[in-house]
Amino acid sequence: KDNDVLIEKLETQHDIEKEEIVMLLALKDPSKLYQAADRVRRKYVGDDVHLRGLIEFSNYCNNTCFYCGLRGPNRTIKRYRMEPEEIIQCAKYGAAAGLKTIVLQSGEDKYFKINTLCKIIEEIKKLDMAITLSIGELTTKDYAELKKAGADRYLLRIETTNKELYQKLHPGMSYENRVRCLMDLKELGYEVGTGSLVGLPGQTLEMLADDLIFFKKIDADMLGIGPFIPCENTPLEREKGGNVEIVLKMLALSRLLLPDINIPATTALAVKDKEGYIKGLKCGANVIMPNIGKDEYKKLYKLYPGKVPDNPSEAVNSLENIKKLILSQNRTIGKDKGYRKKILN
Ligand code: 5AD
Repeated sequence: KDNDVLIEKLETQHDIEKEEIVMLLALKDPSKLYQAADRVRRKYVGDDVHLRGLIEFSNYCNNTCFYCGLRGPNRTIKRYRMEPEEIIQCAKYGAAAGLKTIVLQSGEDKYFKINTLCKIIEEIKKLDMAITLSIGELTTKDYAELKKAGADRYLLRIETTNKELYQKLHPGMSYENRVRCLMDLKELGYEVGTGSLVGLPGQTLEMLADDLIFFKKIDADMLGIGPFIPCENTPLEREKGGNVEIVLKMLALSRLLLPDINIPATTALAVKDKEGYIKGLKCGANVIMPNIGKDEYKKLYKLYPGKVPDNPSEAVNSLENIKKLILSQNRTIGKDKGYRKKILN
């Protein structure tokens, strides 16, 4: 009963105390939480599911994040960089397929000069598409130049707002700099996406509640939240992975706290659970990111295992599979660029 009151308060006021978030994250039967998130999703962002065409253009990375298969010291994966021409070709394919957003993602690869990236952005902008970048931590100046070239959005997960855990998992990186990046991006007028990994070793429900409070505080425009999936040849390869139910609770709570934002049902959720996309879409999500890169590269972009089956066209995140799935759920495919609607404030 207490929990029902909390859910109702969230659904009408979109605000709640940390202790209350923890209680909801611990719910034995979260069905009412999910239903409330689904109602709020429908009321604020409608039935459209926005597709964001993902191009993973380089898997080189200078960082050493403990959970990630692309970490620099992992010598077991073959590294690749796409040529600017190839990237633009993929974007054109996406445009022809009706996509309205291209997401350019890579490891933190210093090889690509900001100038080169700007030129790629300018070319893609000619296709009348929104551009999202997901290329890690950069200087304020670099972010400004990319914005000027036409980038519209930026994805940079905080991964965890627990500073101690953050420092443990990200040697040589700093929590302060990550927050600085997010602040810069907001200031520069990007739509800013952040989010967390759920189920990191040592992570508690209290920490996840803090993550949600942080998202609300910085007024995130997008939130990517997925399960941690242990990856071979990383320091966390033998750890337990994240729990699907907790991811769904995080999605639902995100939708209730920030009703008008864009929330993807993440690929990691779909890899962890065959029904992951469907479950995500029912718990507040309104975005999916089909991979529109080249098959030869898809299998090399190994953040975690299971992303790409032997036959890449069978991948859960192929454009065809995702379109079918959305329609099967009686949802519609977004036809516009799918910016945040900013209904509140
Ligand atoms: N499991 C799940 N997600 C991962 N990411 C990196 N490694 C893993 C993993 N092992 C996520 C991070 C990063 C995004 C691009 O991929 O959250 O921000």
